[in-house]
Amino acid sequence: MSQIIVSGEKKLEGTVRISGAKNAALPILAATVMIDEPVVIRNVPELRDINTMLSILQKIGKKVTFEHGVVQIEPGEILLGNVPYDLVGKMRASFNLFGPLVMACGWARVGKPGGCNIGQRPVDYHVEGLKRFGLKIVEEHGDVFGEIPAEFDSHVEYELPFKSVGATEQLMTTASLMEDSEIVIKNAAEEPEIVDLQNFLNKAGANVSGAGTDTIRIRGVKKLHGSEYSVIPDRIEAGTYLLAGVITRGNVIVENVIPDHLKALLDTLKKMGAEVTVSDNTVRVEVLNKLKPVKVSAEPYPGFPTDLQPIITAVLSTIEGDSIVEELVFENRFGYVDEMNRMGAHIKVKDRRAHIKGTRKLSGAEISAPDIRAAAALVIAGMAAEGETIVHNAGHIFRGYEKLKEKFNSIGAYLRVYPDEE
Ligand code: EPZ
Repeated sequence: MSQIIVSGEKKLEGTVRISGAKNAALPILAATVMIDEPVVIRNVPELRDINTMLSILQKIGKKVTFEHGVVQIEPGEILLGNVPYDLVGKMRASFNLFGPLVMACGWARVGKPGGCNIGQRPVDYHVEGLKRFGLKIVEEHGDVFGEIPAEFDSHVEYELPFKSVGATEQLMTTASLMEDSEIVIKNAAEEPEIVDLQNFLNKAGANVSGAGTDTIRIRGVKKLHGSEYSVIPDRIEAGTYLLAGVITRGNVIVENVIPDHLKALLDTLKKMGAEVTVSDNTVRVEVLNKLKPVKVSAEPYPGFPTDLQPIITAVLSTIEGDSIVEELVFENRFGYVDEMNRMGAHIKVKDRRAHIKGTRKLSGAEISAPDIRAAAALVIAGMAAEGETIVHNAGHIFRGYEKLKEKFNSIGAYLRVYPDEE
């Protein structure tokens, strides 16, 4: 069980270089199973979730190397359509391999992922959409089994019941190899990671358009070919460092970012009274005046990202006055609130809303992190608190933040990690 020990009352000042986006790299890596030529993906962050995906790719037959942020994938002798539950159970995003593997092997059997600490997280939209596209799918013994049909319909439309990021990615990737079929996904998620996946697929010869809007159109092609691609910067990592700058009333610059992807966060920071300066690929946030409480609603993009919801809650708990944070994506993403209250925050959750009574100072405590973004929230809360904070069960954080200790400590934090994961 890893622990992060955070020294409090630090003021963060300096520049952090942002890594490639985990949540863009994962679906792109999943899509590579449909390509039986060499593929090179650059700007891939060295993280636990990425390593899990790469080891699955190796287990099902791909030849994979990963060095200095560059993943090279080559076809092996065979490609297996089987991804057992012990691998999917480690990381839900591995279910994104299902549709691509059916298209690549003619069939696939993938363990059905269970719930997790932020909610139930079913895959019914993935399965329902793929069935509409013509795949024959049955669920048996905890697995999802799928087969390719004799032929695909020439035109299919599917409207997602909710703007699911994973289902949009799964459906657009799978459809790109449904030769001669035109597929339209409505109420699609619009996240930048989906645009990045479209760009990757098109570079490999697919014909996908509309990503970044709520309607995505795919004209299936016969084959995808090898290509080179570089993943976009991680907007959630960038947001985390900016919010750490704010909670410590510091002055932080993130570089190598696409500021447009951070718009909802930057608008919120401006409303709170922070100074925000944007240039081509950097954003600076500085606290010069007293900060104000705000109301934030975590929603699908372009709304405020749910992945920053625990982190903005930590910041608002240090701003005097009443703030509200609403969570409209996951039903159970406030699991960290009791831990934050142990640090002296005053947060009450009712009906997917956190009511926060801001207090000037949090106090360091021993706490436990329920998931990746909650871990980040508790770590940055510790930086602003009086005394020392010990975050138990902190290993989650290494699923999503590359060189976390090194980056934070280079701008004035003092984190110690046991056992050292970096
Ligand atoms: C992606 O998860 C991200 N993960 C999550 O990031 C992120 O929080 C989430 O999108 C929302 O932005 C990756 O990209 C690997 P969803 P995903 O499908 O795709 C419900 C992080 O911290 N739903 O958009 O799994 C679901 O339960 C992680 O880096 C169904 O009901 O999220 C949820 O309430 C955590 N049925 C909502 O939709 C389905 O078939 C949105 O989930 C699919 C989803």
